[in-house]
Amino acid sequence: MTLALTVVVPCYNERANVAPMVAALDKALAGLAWEVVFVDDDSPDGTSAEAKRIAQLDPRVRCIRRVGRRGLSSAVIEGALSSAAAHIAVIDGDMQHDETRLPLMLEAVIGGADMAVGSRHVEGGDSAGLSSPLRVKLSETGIRVAQMVTHTSITDPMSGFFLLRRELFDTLATRLTGQGFKILLDLILASPRQLSIAEIPYKFRPRVAGESKLDVLVLAQFAGLLLDKALAGRVPLRFISFALVGIVGVLVNILVLQIASAAGADFGTAQTIGTIFAMVVNFQLNNQLTYRAQRLKGARAWRGLALFMIVCGLGAIANIGIAKALYLENGRSLFSGAAGAAVGVVWNYAVSATLVWRVR
Ligand code: GDD
Ligand code: MN
Repeated sequence: MTLALTVVVPCYNERANVAPMVAALDKALAGLAWEVVFVDDDSPDGTSAEAKRIAQLDPRVRCIRRVGRRGLSSAVIEGALSSAAAHIAVIDGDMQHDETRLPLMLEAVIGGADMAVGSRHVEGGDSAGLSSPLRVKLSETGIRVAQMVTHTSITDPMSGFFLLRRELFDTLATRLTGQGFKILLDLILASPRQLSIAEIPYKFRPRVAGESKLDVLVLAQFAGLLLDKALAGRVPLRFISFALVGIVGVLVNILVLQIASAAGADFGTAQTIGTIFAMVVNFQLNNQLTYRAQRLKGARAWRGLALFMIVCGLGAIANIGIAKALYLENGRSLFSGAAGAAVGVVWNYAVSATLVWRVR
């Protein structure tokens, strides 16, 4: 029997859900030649070990343990690229998606659709599993924006539950950004032609074990994905994020400078306090947004902050030195200042990427 379906399951801290997932697939896909690949980013709870324990007993089960990397989209991509089956399905590893819908989704794609998407928002679907009113609001806003940019009317463009032909995935793979959570959108935006999408309603179940990894900041990553498309990938997203954070830092610096001055500090002291505040805020924002995938925590965050301040301090010295030299040469203050600042930003970005967050 030729392999019909690879089910890709991204998972992070889902140890307790692995065995139930395999059992559920075994039931839902009875009669089909299928395999499941758990893609785990080296979860501290030992998700990989659990998946491999089951894989030893069941050849339909595989596990990819990724080290030094985090991210739902990139995990899905790597799992899908490891497939040799005719079709690929992607499903969450927390039992929130309804695996009994998979045969129906497969049928839709065999029947001619480019993709089948499990949807919580069509007639018969249900998003009861979404935990808070804020999540519901966020999700609605995201959906509207996503429908606009993709020129599609699919009702659940943020879905993480879908199925497509492997050959289609393989062609789109090199065009994916692999950033953030929205792998379905990434695929739709990567396609040069309009994809025909069949929507299959399902009930989004509440989580039983483990906890959600999605939060408000995911929306910022989503905005980043759209921006990356708009710029056709010419400027690295991380750099844009870093530069935007830098602008916030300048505003913080000015604000604190004003407050400290008003409180009676002399200019030198006020500016020093402002700069330190700006650096701490910048570090925090970069740690939460720009380098979310390799966020530093605990003692490593403190060490990172110290390194970041040294790197940015050197960046400031380079900035001032270059601006001064240019100013002496041509006397144009705005141009010289801007050139110095540009060199400073590029320096801060390049050096903190390798020293503070060590992007691999
Ligand atoms: N490998 C890997 N790496 N897996 C991850 C990572 C990661 O960095 N982050 C999350 N996952 C896995 C989780 O373990 C889970 O199996 C799945 O990805 C979805 O993560 P959840 O944290 O459970 O997301 P959710 O339930 O809040 O989000 C749902 O709604 C989104 C749309 O609003 C999911 O259905 C998403 O797929 C969907 O995009
Ligand atoms: Mn979930």
